[in-house]
Amino acid sequence: AEGFFTFDPGFMATSSCESKITYIDGDKGVLLHRGYPIEQLAEKADFLETCFLLLKGELPNDSEKEEFVSTIKNHTMVHEQLKTFFNGFRRDAHPMAIMCGVVGALSAFYHDSLDINDAHHREISAVRLIAKMPTLAAMVYKYSMGQPMMYPRNDLSYSENFLHMMFNTPCDEKKVNPVLAKAMDRIFVLHADHEQNASTSTVRLAGSSGANPFACIAAGIAALWGPAHGGANEAVLRMLDEIGDVSNIEKFVAKAKDKDDPFKLMGFGHRVYKNFDPRAKVMKQTCDEVLAELGINDPQLELAMKLEEIARNDPYFVERNLYPNVDFYSGIILKAIGIPASMFTVIFATGRTPGWIAHWNEMISGPYKIGRPRQLYTGSPKRDYPH
Ligand code: SDX
Repeated sequence: AEGFFTFDPGFMATSSCESKITYIDGDKGVLLHRGYPIEQLAEKADFLETCFLLLKGELPNDSEKEEFVSTIKNHTMVHEQLKTFFNGFRRDAHPMAIMCGVVGALSAFYHDSLDINDAHHREISAVRLIAKMPTLAAMVYKYSMGQPMMYPRNDLSYSENFLHMMFNTPCDEKKVNPVLAKAMDRIFVLHADHEQNASTSTVRLAGSSGANPFACIAAGIAALWGPAHGGANEAVLRMLDEIGDVSNIEKFVAKAKDKDDPFKLMGFGHRVYKNFDPRAKVMKQTCDEVLAELGINDPQLELAMKLEEIARNDPYFVERNLYPNVDFYSGIILKAIGIPASMFTVIFATGRTPGWIAHWNEMISGPYKIGRPRQLYTGSPKRDYPH
């Protein structure tokens, strides 16, 4: 069309911002949370320590950690009336559809009493969200299974509690496998924050209007759902299912290179990383550890590794610096833990909550203005009504 400009709409949609929380060097494959490399946090920190670090800027000492863990435990239950929200959904609704709804509904329970200009109120909002996301995520799963929802237990660690609520029933409360709990916790750590990605930018933009933090996180969940973003982990497993066998890999790699074919290799490529996503490396190591400890020989892991090898040696992918990202191997571990593919992005949202709320808090606690991205207008010039 006359006067049509070609520009990157992504550039126009995001206003750059300052932040002290996370640093990414996409060319070197570096990811730091408050200066700590993700590889070290994944190995040495647990998820609640990482939450504390993202929120407060420093790792907790022993007494701070004890207090933070205790505070989180005191907020893991949700208002009993929230259960009624689930009944409005079909049992086969996508878990992310329900998650968007019930997390947004939290704003109906904590709206009136919340003053976002009060640092203590912001801190309690952050704690409530970090504490309640696993409970809501497990409720979503139980609702889809037609099983009774499980209450959180304060004698369990964060990730043990999540797996308890996911897989135990009132008539059968098994001890949570510590290998699975540790893998779950590391997956949460690897998803905790990632600078100004689409969903975090959504949370910031929603928060810039002064909206309730629970509603802002619901907006972030909605943005995360897309297959180009957090929905990729579910899409990777479905892609591996579709490929089925190593003999089909070349065909799918060719599809991914074909500009006329919308198919992309899910779990590959990134807006920022033009090198290995450091999280993908840790995820792959965790994959190997968990499957070995569980004695699982998952053919889909072999398939994924062969796909990575072929793609990484293909000039199309090499020239474009396309590497596996955080989503490429995560689904294989989640499947080994027993989590269905439809729940993978709910897991991502649960892990990303501390990052979202830390960015929200960072923005709200300083001077800020409502976000207002501009545009390059490519429509009709001014004209008069025809008569
Ligand atoms: C996440 O932003 C974040 O930080 C996100 C995230 C986080 O933690 O929050 O890291 C989480 O969202 C990870 C990404 C998950 N998504 C996927 O795995 C979906 C598959 N990946 C692609 O859709 C894609 O790589 C994107 C969306 C992630 C990035 O796409 P871009 O912006 O187009 O990437 P690019 O500019 O680097 O692409 C360069 C070229 C293009 O081709 P040309 O126009 O140069 O010919 O590479 C092509 C792209 O078409 N390309 C792919 C590809 N990814 C990019 N071709 C085939 N398969 C792919 N996966």
